[in-house]
Amino acid sequence: MLQDAARIVAEAEVFIITAGAGMGVDSGLPDFRGDHGFWQAYPAYARLGISFVECANPQHFSNDPSFGWGFYGHRTNLYRDTVPHEGFHIIKKWLERNRADYFVVTSNVDGQFQKAGYDDDRILEVHGSIHRLQCQTPCSSSIWLNDEVIRIDEATMRARAPLPRCGECGEVSRPNILMFGDWSWLPDHTHTQEHAFDRFMTKNGNRRIAVIEMGAGSAIPTIRATSERIGWNCTHATVIRINPREPEIKVPHISMACGALEGLQKIDALL
Ligand SMILES: NC(=O)c1ccc[n+]([C@@H]2O[C@H](COP(=O)([O-])OP(=O)(O)OC[C@H]3O[C@@H](n4cnc5c(N)ncnc54)[C@H](O)[C@@H]3O)[C@@H](O)[C@H]2O)c1
Ligand SMILES: [Zn+2]
Repeated sequence: MLQDAARIVAEAEVFIITAGAGMGVDSGLPDFRGDHGFWQAYPAYARLGISFVECANPQHFSNDPSFGWGFYGHRTNLYRDTVPHEGFHIIKKWLERNRADYFVVTSNVDGQFQKAGYDDDRILEVHGSIHRLQCQTPCSSSIWLNDEVIRIDEATMRARAPLPRCGECGEVSRPNILMFGDWSWLPDHTHTQEHAFDRFMTKNGNRRIAVIEMGAGSAIPTIRATSERIGWNCTHATVIRINPREPEIKVPHISMACGALEGLQKIDALL
């Protein structure tokens, strides 16, 4: 299995890197696997009995903005402070070694691929990014970079005033992230990225493709479905699914039951 993975990587002309929250775990970031995982990462919400789905709700920005910004401000600060683990660099080394074209497709909103030096034009953030903001109403279609300083009281998980605001109407702003029950998310930036990915697939779909999937869960299976669609629809594509708890995928695709960093290091050692 490992030998097969190394051969697929060695021969790839194109890499499609698909990543869920598990990709950040080896950088020290929490995934939100089930309420238990979420509450372990955020004990303040465990005390309040509030789930991830309840936290990730756009209504807080209008009903109780310091609560809304408490969760997203804390995550903004966490992701800004995080150093991407060595696995990000191992894949970059493979791209250079093979002189390969690449695209990243991720449900993560944490900006870690950009931070590790991946090209912003080759990244599709299917759920948006915490590093971009929009108006909560929204009063216009503007999406802008999040350069706000957000201070959080960690005991209550509430953001202190002043809260980030829309420059056009003065309302409290919100991250340009697709939340649960979200009718006000502006998808335009993600749509632009989707079009870039479509063009990439039109150009590269018939080449030898290695899909490296890491840390994508089955609860919200967007990323797993993306990997599988490429794996089944493109003649010369093989998926390498790296996931310690739910690595299953049908042959000829390759399943590695370990963490992302460990899996990448094991493949790299054979190249
Ligand atoms: N960093 C982020 O941006 C972030 C973090 C948490 C959740 N989210 C959001 O919440 C949703 C969660 O879905 P999801 O499937 O991405 O995450 P998830 O939390 O549902 O699942 C995480 C997956 O990662 C695996 N995993 C755990 N440790 C790992 C490791 N060391 N290496 C590789 N894999 C590991 C788990 O087995 C699981 O399958 C997404 O829509 C995403 O937008 C984002
Ligand atoms: Zn506005």
